[in-house]
Amino acid sequence: MAQFTLPKNSQYTEGKKWPKPAGGRVQEFRIYRWNPDDGANPRIDTYYVDRDDCGPMVLDALLWIKNKVDPTLTFRRSCREGICGSCAMNIMGQNTLACTLGIDDCQSDSIKIYPLPHMPVLKDLVPDLTSFFAQHASIEPWLQTQTPEPETEWRQTPEERSKLDGLYECILCACCTTSCPSYWWNGDRFLGPAALLQAYRWLIDSRDESTGERLDNLHDPFRLYRCHTIMNCANTCPKGLNPAKAIAEIKKMMVARVV
Ligand code: SF4
Ligand code: SF4
Ligand code: FES
Repeated sequence: MAQFTLPKNSQYTEGKKWPKPAGGRVQEFRIYRWNPDDGANPRIDTYYVDRDDCGPMVLDALLWIKNKVDPTLTFRRSCREGICGSCAMNIMGQNTLACTLGIDDCQSDSIKIYPLPHMPVLKDLVPDLTSFFAQHASIEPWLQTQTPEPETEWRQTPEERSKLDGLYECILCACCTTSCPSYWWNGDRFLGPAALLQAYRWLIDSRDESTGERLDNLHDPFRLYRCHTIMNCANTCPKGLNPAKAIAEIKKMMVARVV
């Protein structure tokens, strides 16, 4: 499990305790709150959710709170089925998706929820992912070719296509990058596991013709080589992917090219 850490503005105080619903099965949630407009420190609010009136996932509980208790609670979500990556947050010390984590799976009397760690916070559970997506864009995540386009499609054998398995499934949720200690300390220069996994996805694509340029772009003491194989990224990925392995493969490609 990824190490529990607080978000950057972590000087928080005890916040509001909201009323308990009467009867039923009640689950306590302690949730990080911060509003850039009120000038106050971050705080932890305590909410109680009626499990008999709420769906089974942590995201269901957040929506229940927002709809029935406190409409000011702010978080991202869209697909509610582990596809869009927007509901990534730190739940019980683990970066994960609120929509695919069951409330029962938290196995706690008091479920603690924070934004993804070590990122600036925009509001409550919403981190600022501007630099995360700029780093993704910097690896130029699209097919690059020089030969004339084929009439129908760029072809791949089944074996070539299978090399993309374990890479194309990435939903850019940022759970891995924000769990990486190297990224915490050098996030302005180290690309982080998500962007590097995507970089490898294009390096290994048999149809892409910019492999040399892509490797040149990564050949830098910080952009690639700050990974020290701590493995938080692979342990936390909610899609079961292994960015650390992808990074090791890029390093091998670098060596093979130099030799
Ligand atoms: S293996 Fe590399 S990228 Fe993954 S958490 Fe560790 S240092 Fe970060
Ligand atoms: S590798 Fe996993 S944890 Fe990282 S961004 Fe992609 S889906 Fe999220
Ligand atoms: S809401 Fe889309 S991944 Fe959770």
